[in-house]
Amino acid sequence: MSRASRDVQDPHHLRRRRQRGSPPQADAPVRLARRRSGHRDDESTEGEIEMTVTVEQRPEAPSGPPKLSREELLRAQRETLDTPRMDYSLLARTMFKPVDLMYGKEGSYTKFAMLEIIARVPYQAWERIGYLLVHRHAGRSALARRVFERIVEARADQDNEQWHLLILQDLVQRTGQRQSWLLHRMAPWLIAFFYYHVSWLLFLLRPDWSYRLNAEFEDHAEHEYMTFVAEHPELDLLPDPGTYAAEYGHYRSVADLLRQIGHDERTHKLDSLESMREPRVR
Ligand SMILES: [Fe+2]
Ligand SMILES: [Fe+2]
Repeated sequence: MSRASRDVQDPHHLRRRRQRGSPPQADAPVRLARRRSGHRDDESTEGEIEMTVTVEQRPEAPSGPPKLSREELLRAQRETLDTPRMDYSLLARTMFKPVDLMYGKEGSYTKFAMLEIIARVPYQAWERIGYLLVHRHAGRSALARRVFERIVEARADQDNEQWHLLILQDLVQRTGQRQSWLLHRMAPWLIAFFYYHVSWLLFLLRPDWSYRLNAEFEDHAEHEYMTFVAEHPELDLLPDPGTYAAEYGHYRSVADLLRQIGHDERTHKLDSLESMREPRVR
């Protein structure tokens, strides 16, 4: 079934277009058993009876953006470099500028690691607000379930950003780059603190602005990764160390590993742009 036709049939699938880690649980019977006793009509008064419960449309955690082949990664890089950056808002530029001043305009593993620390922040803010909304809409089960689906999605994106951070930290360690307490602990924490509060506040006032800000952040990250790989052709000759291969996949080179991360950022951006069209769950 095509995505379009599936979306028409079930609008809730619109938000779940990413790769799944496990098959859907819909219609999967769950066998329950309970013991009965002291019931005269039942010959097996001490026996077990079975009850079948059907679980439908349980929100699943997406396993993350799709993993691309070598050819797809190269194509994704070309597409990013051929696409102009988004028109960044003043708020986004207010965050990008000090980052460039502190960590340099050029990309580096230490700069990317710092960006990945703050990349998780809006998803954490949306998750937190989501739980408040679930509580608020507890009396409207269908609405509460749709809010919960967004929470599940926000958590999946946080996990994906966490893998990025672990991979980048691994590359920092392997290349022996130094990270200072001030620049790589304190400053990211302060920026993350600011970004977190901006994210939830915007989400309460104008959720579409919060999604837009994240889309700009993701667009920036996508271009930073793809540009860095283009400017460092030697990375194509450097094998992927595969430290997190079991969880994130094993790529031919560090360049492909970074291209995959860049493509993940594009997926995050597209998700946020899509959420802008329906910023409030109804
Ligand atoms: Fe990331
Ligand atoms: Fe991202």
